[in-house]
Amino acid sequence: MQSVLKYLKQHEQRFIDELCEYLRFPSVSAQSNHRQDLAACAGWLVEHCRKLGLETQLCPTEGNPVVLARTPRTAAGRRPHYLVYGHYDVQPPEPFELWKSPPFEPRISAGRVYARGAVDNKGQHLAHLNAVEAYLKTGTPLPCDLTFVIEGEEEVGSKSLAGFLMKHLQELRCDGVVISDNGVPSKKLPALTYALRGILGFEIMVHGPDRDLHSGIYGGALENPAMALCQLLAQLRDGKGRITIPGFYEDVQRLSAYERRQLARLPHRDSEMCRFLGVPKLFGEAGYTATERRCARPTLEINGLTSGYQAEGSKTIIPSWARAKITCRLVPNQTPDKLSRLIARHLKRICPPTVRLEVQAGHGGEPYLMSPTGPQAQAALRALASAFGHSPILMREGGSIPIVNAFKKHLGVDTLLLGLALPDDNPHSPNEKFDLGCYTTGMRMGAFLWQELARDKTG
Ligand code: BES
Ligand code: MN
Repeated sequence: MQSVLKYLKQHEQRFIDELCEYLRFPSVSAQSNHRQDLAACAGWLVEHCRKLGLETQLCPTEGNPVVLARTPRTAAGRRPHYLVYGHYDVQPPEPFELWKSPPFEPRISAGRVYARGAVDNKGQHLAHLNAVEAYLKTGTPLPCDLTFVIEGEEEVGSKSLAGFLMKHLQELRCDGVVISDNGVPSKKLPALTYALRGILGFEIMVHGPDRDLHSGIYGGALENPAMALCQLLAQLRDGKGRITIPGFYEDVQRLSAYERRQLARLPHRDSEMCRFLGVPKLFGEAGYTATERRCARPTLEINGLTSGYQAEGSKTIIPSWARAKITCRLVPNQTPDKLSRLIARHLKRICPPTVRLEVQAGHGGEPYLMSPTGPQAQAALRALASAFGHSPILMREGGSIPIVNAFKKHLGVDTLLLGLALPDDNPHSPNEKFDLGCYTTGMRMGAFLWQELARDKTG
């Protein structure tokens, strides 16, 4: 183990350079003009995995390819087998003007690397690959068999990955999954995440007149679709931050007193969060703390709102249509299917007869909850403590990684979520960054993890 840690230290600068190389690919899965960039990025990753000694395949799918990379299997009997999952696709970088340096030209400043995809998720899974490189290149026996599954469609709902799992079921059979694609409260407070929120996306379209109309000639005599949409949306939440859709909270599992005490241990100050986010005051569902609202309560958010004239100057029209992009975050035991039905039914009921409503269901993902008391979780907690030098906590996260449920369903295993993203890393926002301290600690965490997980298996 000493030689692994030494290797990681010695090659630190090269690992940083390689991360920068990886970050130069604009692998934006939401935008079809980047299809080639995704392919090139996957190609780079395949080459990289081969160089460090992994048996690597580029697996085409209907969408972007999946990179599958296995540690060389030894003849010696059955050993624990773990999947390490990551994604090489990234969120769109827009709005460009808010970036202090171009999103695909990585910049290092004050021990952080700034680029789209730095923390979400290239830096985080590269840390795991580096740890494995250190084992392989120093000839240190890896105590577990590992298979890396790195996909290119996470940020658009992992459409091809479930099919991929089914196709490769045999070789993916494993004892557990490890993912670093989430947060850590601070470098002094590592965490094992045992729950993620689910997600349900949909679009609401309100149709009015069959073309934009002169708002002077017609205004007052017919419904304005933008106004109708705003009024519909405004009815979906009350003044206390509760979603008003009947049945919305019906299946929500209440937070236990124990969980609330755990969540209260997460560092948080309303005033600091306000300053960091540039808002005058926080808002959320009455009766819950900001951490509980973020991590363990369901939400309905407007992600995009479009109607009428958006270009320079004014244009006096009644727009022909208005559209909203919405996502709900789900918590155990809500399901996307049931919520989707409830929401569509409610919207139809409250829509005025003066416009035509269209509700289009989008991607969905179930919430995830695992028991953090089992032997694998204990092994992960030991690895976190060794790597960070501080004792870890248990936490829930507000983001979603829907494929985690597919691992549970098809492979029958739990996922250890070992995030390396600091609270101010700005994933999905301008000036996304990854802390290089988290990068190197992440590599050490990876190195310790396989020892601890194997120890658990034999001990
Ligand atoms: N890495 C995030 C998920 C995440 C972020 C988990 C923070 C926990 C804490 C992931 O890449 C992501 O952004 N997922 C999407 C899911 C979606 C597009 C289906 C999300 O949560 O919005
Ligand atoms: Mn993301």
